[in-house]
Amino acid sequence: MLTLLENIFTSSLIENPQGKMVSLHSHTSRGQGIFLQGIFDQVKPKKTLEIGMAFGISSLFILEKHREYDHPNKSHIIIEPYPWKGIAEYNFAKAGLFELTDIYYKKSYEILPGLVAENIRIQYAYVDTIKLFDNVMQDIFFIDKMLDVGGVIILDDCGGSWPGIQKAARFLNSLPHYEFLGGYRKSPLTLKRKIALAVTTFAINLVPFKNRFLPGFNLKTNRSLDLEYRCIAFKKKLEDTRSWDWDISF
Ligand SMILES: C[S@@+](CC[C@H](N)C(=O)[O-])C[C@H]1O[C@@H](n2cnc3c(N)ncnc32)[C@H](O)[C@@H]1O
Repeated sequence: MLTLLENIFTSSLIENPQGKMVSLHSHTSRGQGIFLQGIFDQVKPKKTLEIGMAFGISSLFILEKHREYDHPNKSHIIIEPYPWKGIAEYNFAKAGLFELTDIYYKKSYEILPGLVAENIRIQYAYVDTIKLFDNVMQDIFFIDKMLDVGGVIILDDCGGSWPGIQKAARFLNSLPHYEFLGGYRKSPLTLKRKIALAVTTFAINLVPFKNRFLPGFNLKTNRSLDLEYRCIAFKKKLEDTRSWDWDISF
């Protein structure tokens, strides 16, 4: 891990362009950053994309990997609409990693369609943005168009704490051309939750003809789908060959 990141995590402070140390917040954790790097080593992407930069903590983990693999300038596309006082960019430069970035200062829905139209190809995307289901779904839609087979979409903030992201994770998990690759930090199952889940699942299973009368609902719990992780990587295993009328409850 970068010495810069070690120092940031140890102190919970990050330097701003004026040389002042400010409190760290809204960032990807150290453990999750190491998970992101592990996925990078598995997939070995040449080009990556990240939505939501903030102070640039996750970006530093990803950029470190690009340098390790000796990738060219602008290998990491970042989309972030707000300036965050230039702190991320200052720290990228401090770590000698700024040249590896290609930053777009707009909302993802203003940038992604243009990247698709330019036929930009990626093999790795980390989505850590606003928590609205429709927003994250449109990010996933456009990322899928840019993502090579074998590439990954990694979603932060699953695990149930952000229902919009959890729904998006359930959707991705239900797509025939994606598969679960790995998760970071499984939500703990307390005895109380274990009992509640068992009772709920038992009650749902008792409902007769549930699939016929509730066709729009996938009644499986996040736990039974193995989607209760803070961060989940989904791998694109095939091209999208769904027919025009494909549909699924997720
Ligand atoms: C949790 S923070 C990202 C943290 C960052 N990945 C890190 O590890 O330091 C979420 C970021 O998403 C950005 N954001 C919000 N709406 C967005 C949008 N529509 N498109 C792109 N980024 C957005 C916010 O400004 C914020 O910086």
